[in-house]
Amino acid sequence: MTRLTRRYKFSASHRLHSAAMSDEENSELYGKCNNPFGHGHNYVLEVTVRGPVNAESGRVVGIGKLDAYVEREVIRHFDHKDMNRDVPDFVDLVPTTENLSVIVEKRLRRDWSSSFGTASLDAVRVQETKRNLFELRDL
Ligand code: NI
Repeated sequence: MTRLTRRYKFSASHRLHSAAMSDEENSELYGKCNNPFGHGHNYVLEVTVRGPVNAESGRVVGIGKLDAYVEREVIRHFDHKDMNRDVPDFVDLVPTTENLSVIVEKRLRRDWSSSFGTASLDAVRVQETKRNLFELRDL
């Protein structure tokens, strides 16, 4: 099996605030990320695909096809959006990058098998800052 990783970028804003906790607890847990008016990040999304190399194309998956799929299922729903308000997935979910990674994986999963056949989704990584990277692997 060969793994192919493709990297994408999008910019979005969020505010980390959990309705299950008091204002003081939110402030203590999330720090600056709890500021009332939110803040933005330039996220880097890495999608890893695992599969056999196709004998005719010499590829695990068509890169153009993967790009179009990730754009349609993920990027256009998040890029230049306020995640708390514009992205329905976060109506009742704190838009931490842990949760964002799970939502991205779910969205990629929706139509995956009919689009990519034998190639499987292997890992999803979302980098929020130079110091924060979140990963779902062994999918
Ligand atoms: Ni943040």
